[in-house]
This record gives sequence, C-alpha cells and structure tokens, in this order.
Amino acid sequence: MSRTSSSKHWDMIYGKYAPQELGWYTPSLATSLKWIQKYAPSTSLPIIDIGGGSSTLVDELIGLEFANVTVLDLSQRALDEVEHRLGPDASRISFSCCDVRDPTCGLPDVYIWHDRAAFHFLKDSEIHQYKTRLLKSLLPGGTFILGVFSENAPPTCSGLPVNRHSLDSLGSVFEDNFSLLESHTEVHRTPGGVEQEYLYTAWMRIPDGLTLQL
Ligand SMILES: C[S@@+](CC[C@H](N)C(=O)[O-])C[C@H]1O[C@@H](n2cnc3c(N)ncnc32)[C@H](O)[C@@H]1O
Repeated sequence: MSRTSSSKHWDMIYGKYAPQELGWYTPSLATSLKWIQKYAPSTSLPIIDIGGGSSTLVDELIGLEFANVTVLDLSQRALDEVEHRLGPDASRISFSCCDVRDPTCGLPDVYIWHDRAAFHFLKDSEIHQYKTRLLKSLLPGGTFILGVFSENAPPTCSGLPVNRHSLDSLGSVFEDNFSLLESHTEVHRTPGGVEQEYLYTAWMRIPDGLTLQL
C-alpha cells in the first residue's frame, strides 16, 4: 500500500525530533499505566496501544510482565524507534504499522484498547469509522482508555488541527456501546513549556444484547 500523507507527516516528525523533544513526550504515561493495571485483571490479557508512537508505555508494560501487547501506529519510524530502544525485549511485543481508520488494517481481539493523543486528530466525519474499528477489536466487557485534548487545550498538536473533546461530546459518540467507568483531567507540560489539558476517560464495552438500566 502506498504511504498516505498522514504517515508521511508522522514519519517526518519522528525523523526530525528526538522522542524527548516531542510535544506529547512524558517519561511515563502515569494515568494510562494506572488504569491499565486497574482494568486488566491479568497480565496475559491482550492490549493494544493505538497511535502508540515512540511512547514508553510499552516499556513499562513489559516491566510489569504484560505478555500480549500490540503497538499500532501509522509511522514506521516511530515503531522502529521503539523496537531499537527495547532491544531484545522487542520480540515480546507485536508491532503493527497501519492507519487505525483503514478497514484493511488488521486488529487483534483485545481486552484493553488504549489511545492517548491519536483519537483527537480524527475529524467528526471519521469518528464513526474509528468506533467501528474499536468495536471490531475490543472484547465485550473490555476497557477502552482514551486520553484526548480537552476543550481547554490548544487547537493544534504537531502542526495538525485537533478535535478537542468534553465528556458530553465523547458520551454522544460512545455511550450506546460503552459505560463510563471514570474520567479525569490533567495538565501536560510540553518540553517547550506549553500547558495542554488532557481529558482521560475509561469506558467498559457493554456486552452485546445487554442494556444498562439507568
Ligand atoms: C501525538 S502522538 C501520541 C503518541 C503516544 N500515544 C503518546 O502519548 O506518547 C500521536 C500518534 O498517533 C499516530 N497516529 C495518528 N493518527 C493515526 C491513525 N489514524 N492511525 C494510527 N496511528 C495514528 C501518530 O503517528 C503518532 O505517533
């Protein structure tokens, strides 16, 4: 498949900057890690990190003995960076270089679907496509962990426009199939000193055929 303008953009970014220079860099994705540990009852359950980039989340998951982790990203450069950093431990991870929106991009069945700062690049018209992909992969009863720019965050990230979200806007997309477990906002300071507010949410996929009584 030919490289899309999206993958070229992200490959250019990962080629130009060291991981620690990227606006979204943080040495540890503390909330993501805490919630993955909270909602994955076993380290053998399959996890996917959507748009994982060169984040160190995967290093920390390996350190905690998570044994079935896939990192998906449309930038091969980002995945190469992670593979190089992990060295021999890279063989404990599955890497998938594709666009999560693409129906030909294979997705494993997973119990945890994690996405920090990839979903918020989707236009309104692409969100349904993403949700279809999420529902194809995330097992009923599994957890969807999402970190996005909140309504108080800047309107761009990595030179691209961002679709900022609130609990209401996410609820209107996901509440048909998901039940909100918890939410949290936190301020991320970029390496350049800019503050960005993230909205983190965790959702349980409602088992098919089950309607929650409110
Ligand atoms: C802002 S970075 C966040 C990286 C990482 N999740 C973190 O928090 O450090 C966004 C990442 O999502 C990836 N990405 C953006 N759109 C994507 C898509 N449609 N499918 C797969 N990956 C995507 C980019 O290549 C990039 O690595």
